[in-house]
Amino acid sequence: MLNAGSNLSTRYFRLTLGCAAFAFALLLFGVYVRLSDANPGCDAWPSCYGKPFAPLTAREIYEAWQDRVLPPGVLQRQVAVDAIYRYLPAVLGLVLVGLADLGRRRRSRFLVLQFMAPATAATLAFLQSGLAQFAAGRHPRAGYAMADLAFALATVGILWWLTLREQRFWRPVPPHPRIQHLRPRALVALILVVGLILLGGWTAANNAGLACPDFPTCQGGWWPAMDFVDGFTLWRSVGVNHRGGMIDLAGITAIDVAHRVAALIVLLYVGWLALRTIRVGFDSNLCRYGMLVLVLLLGETIVGVMDVVLRLPLVVEMIHGAIGGLLMLGVIALNHVLRPRRVHAG
Ligand code: HEM
Repeated sequence: MLNAGSNLSTRYFRLTLGCAAFAFALLLFGVYVRLSDANPGCDAWPSCYGKPFAPLTAREIYEAWQDRVLPPGVLQRQVAVDAIYRYLPAVLGLVLVGLADLGRRRRSRFLVLQFMAPATAATLAFLQSGLAQFAAGRHPRAGYAMADLAFALATVGILWWLTLREQRFWRPVPPHPRIQHLRPRALVALILVVGLILLGGWTAANNAGLACPDFPTCQGGWWPAMDFVDGFTLWRSVGVNHRGGMIDLAGITAIDVAHRVAALIVLLYVGWLALRTIRVGFDSNLCRYGMLVLVLLLGETIVGVMDVVLRLPLVVEMIHGAIGGLLMLGVIALNHVLRPRRVHAG
């Protein structure tokens, strides 16, 4: 009986870890979709240009062109990438339903966490997949890109937290008065990092990355002309301002400068927290988590600057997006180790 229970726990842990890795890969795929302008490739969901499923092969896409259902200018790569990207979160959602069921069957005292967390992540994954409906044509794509990123971040975050709470690795540090005060600060750090990642996604979705082509100045000065209303109106299509005209340089400059200023705030605050964690936990393994966050933070900042200096090569953009995601996972791990759980999960 004990064996059956521990088998179930092991399966649950492995599946949770697998789902977290799948969700992280999807987050990176989303970065690629935004940066390569792959969406909107389809016009609806789950159908695509009148077909029940998106045309994926070269032959299907050629037929769709011939039937004149595919508008000119929409590329095969766009359709294929967009279609795969919209279906994969639904696949993840289905696997997560299985994980929630496994959590229910474990009947441990952590039932609420082990069932509710995958169920919530499954709901988010299904919503993310369905969001594609709003991505195309007359619908506002810019707001969609943000919601897509927010759902993807929340799904990864929940699954990573759940993986850590299984306590197979990275066990929380025993309660100690010296680490007590770090807890709320680690939570603030997580909020700041998530906010910055969302701002980065907004920068990419609006093609605003080179509004400031120079660094550390922007357009040769410290405070160029900026229009924050244009820059931060979510409910509009990319390239269009809140009045329906073309978005101008002042609009995208506001986005780019906001990302830079937010990056500076994160660098100072999270950097300070990481150094403090290293100092407080110098004689315990807490030190490692502080170092991990510090390395990711510095690496992300350097790659961000390189991205601008090298004029946004896709590979550097992807590395920037990937380290940003890892930084979030690192800060979640820091939050986890600072919050001891009294009993080992059953
Ligand atoms: C800790 C600091 C930083 C974090 C966590 C961060 C995070 C991100 C993320 C997640 C993206 C978007 C990828 C996507 O979802 O499409 C992004 C985009 C971007 N970031 Fe950062 N960033 C940071 C610092 C910087 C710095 C210091 C710069 C340069 C001065 C920078 C420049 C950019 C640019 C230009 C983009 C637009 C995307 C592109 O076209 O490459 N970032 N950032």
